[in-house]
Amino acid sequence: MCGIVGYTGQRQAYPIVLKGLKRLEYRGYDSSGVALLKDKHLKVFKKKGKVAELEESLIGTDIDANIGIGHTRWATHGEPSDRNAHPHTSKSGRIAMIHNGIIENYALIKQDLLKKGYSFTSDTDTEVLLNFIEDIQTNNDCTVEEALRIALKRVTGAYCILLIEQDNPDTIIAARKGSPLVIGIGKGEHFLASDASPIIEYTKEVVYVNDYELAIVKPDELVLKNLGNEKVTPFVTKLDMDLAAIEKGGYDHFMIKEIFEQPSTIFDCLRGRLDVKEGSIKMSGVDDNIEQLLNANRIMIIACGTSWHAGLVAEYIIEELCRIPVEVEYASEFRYRNPIVNKGDVIIAISQSGETADTIVALEKAKENGAFIFGVVNAVGSSIARISNAGAYTHAGPEIGVASTKAFTGQLAVLMMVALNIAKHKKTISQEKYDGLIKELQLVPEKVDAILKNADEIKAIAEKYKDASDFLFLGRGYNFPIALEGALKLKEISYIHAEGYPAAEMKHGPIALVDETLPVVFIATNDAYHEKIVSNMQEIKARKGRIISIITEGDSISKELSEDAFAIPATDEIIAPLLTVIPLQLLSYYVGTAKGIDVDKPRNLAKSVTVE
Ligand code: F6R
Repeated sequence: MCGIVGYTGQRQAYPIVLKGLKRLEYRGYDSSGVALLKDKHLKVFKKKGKVAELEESLIGTDIDANIGIGHTRWATHGEPSDRNAHPHTSKSGRIAMIHNGIIENYALIKQDLLKKGYSFTSDTDTEVLLNFIEDIQTNNDCTVEEALRIALKRVTGAYCILLIEQDNPDTIIAARKGSPLVIGIGKGEHFLASDASPIIEYTKEVVYVNDYELAIVKPDELVLKNLGNEKVTPFVTKLDMDLAAIEKGGYDHFMIKEIFEQPSTIFDCLRGRLDVKEGSIKMSGVDDNIEQLLNANRIMIIACGTSWHAGLVAEYIIEELCRIPVEVEYASEFRYRNPIVNKGDVIIAISQSGETADTIVALEKAKENGAFIFGVVNAVGSSIARISNAGAYTHAGPEIGVASTKAFTGQLAVLMMVALNIAKHKKTISQEKYDGLIKELQLVPEKVDAILKNADEIKAIAEKYKDASDFLFLGRGYNFPIALEGALKLKEISYIHAEGYPAAEMKHGPIALVDETLPVVFIATNDAYHEKIVSNMQEIKARKGRIISIITEGDSISKELSEDAFAIPATDEIIAPLLTVIPLQLLSYYVGTAKGIDVDKPRNLAKSVTVE
């Protein structure tokens, strides 16, 4: 939700800020803008639409400056438009500011400012906050930094803000609560951004700013302070990421690149943890906290969207293998209801970005009640990784396509290893079953590779069904959450209405939708439910539904019932979701691209949902 970039140093700021915005466009792309400061003169440019449109509009404009801030927006307050785009300028025109987050009490502040004679040129909460800061500065005759500190103590909500002011020509002032901020440290220059991707090509030394911290950033100096104006020592970390990981590398879209990366991302996730020869899984987050996990009264899994689907798969696996009760919660529901959380409960938080606002608040709430938080996170150093008491990274690398693909399979692989590890310690799994499952897990990267080699078969299926107005996805057992995931992927990437259901549950309602125009995707691999799902296929066929099925190689029964079938290699049913999801990711990608949709930036979505 909104990407922010800043630069102060000796180089030209605009190209650095613009390139950074392009890298952050996955966070929002309905409008963008930059503010540049040169010789105490502020220049602000903004434009509705993608960053490329801003760039186009600035050809031939004087963009000379060594300090600048930029923003790519995902609208919250006010429609996408030039005037609601950031940066905003204060009433006096002396300060320019960008903001990622939501100021919840902006309406009350706005009323006060209106009474004082302020007027507003946008509908945004950001412009209100900015003028609130300037009003405090004027009334208290203090610095902008001081005014910002006072203002932040009086606002509720989430923010990462960057501001520059005419009278402070080499300084960016930044503050964070709830929305991420990374500062890259160069030689005589600093880079600021929502994540490390705009920074990585200039420096690997970064500081992750914490909530309630202010950063005063000059070319040669970085000062961190808390809201009490006390200095905080910056903790410098080294980025473990390279530039290639955030570029398309010859693919048309990040989404397809990330789908095809899965043999290696899953391999990286298993590497150093799974040892088939030794018959062991080493995960320090689990091993160091094994008592806590073994003695869990229950496990609650908290996540949103695709990560929530990974949680549902984990529920089935953990209950089966570890015999610990598991509940899976939407973070957005958990945070507002009055859930029962006790000491002794283990919370597994699942998040690609590690910055999802609802998940963060839900975890803070659970932590207050004494729960132990185990994070399954992709973005290293992110807020959720830091809130967690322990955890395991998914090691999928930066995921830039808005639809989550490789992070999901990374989550599944981690959760399967966690479950196997706990089950082994708890002795709820036989040695034979454990050995069989870790062998199967080890084979996943090559089986995913084999599936991807047949991607053209899915492409042909996508071409055939791309004009359908609805899709139904059905699965049972471990593959029921994969049906939900298949439907979600198709919705977000192709704008086709799709529903995921447990295959048997479809008789209780959705079967009314079935006619000769409805594509019904069955995930019907060989498992304990196979006969049952074959019966469900018969029921759909009897009503003339168009069956597309994901089946195990050699399954002629399901194939015969289907108009189109895609075969995947055989595996254990517990491991199967890691394979069955791949053709569904491909299906959504090929349907989306066949319909001409910009699949990396589908409408209304943003990668990192940092607002509730
Ligand atoms: C769907 C998708 C979203 C995210 C959800 C949670 O493709 O990407 O549904 O899964 O917004 O995000 P994270 O995992 O970053 O907490």
